Amino acid sequence: MPKDVEISFIPFGTHLNVPRGTSLLKAITQAGYPVGYSCRGQGVCVACAVWVQGQASKPSGREIELLRERTETQKRGDFSLRISCLTRAKGSVRVTTDYW
Ligand code: FES
Repeated sequence: MPKDVEISFIPFGTHLNVPRGTSLLKAITQAGYPVGYSCRGQGVCVACAVWVQGQASKPSGREIELLRERTETQKRGDFSLRISCLTRAKGSVRVTTDYW
């Protein structure tokens, strides 16, 4: 299995290769795209929620709990709402937000 995985940023059509297991928040900030993260990746603020498709880690109990507190739908086509600081890239992942 390859050591690096590819993160694709929709709708920009850009990609970033990161080590497998990198958090999506880290990949997004490394790529230079805006994303909220007022708790600095502590899994508290939920500001870093993004839409994710592909080979991401399964949601942890903490993430499921945080997402349950949100009222909007958590699925949009093949994309799922995820807390990016708590979600790790296991393989190729596509990421988008409502504000990009
Ligand atoms: S940065 Fe606050 S929950 Fe992810």
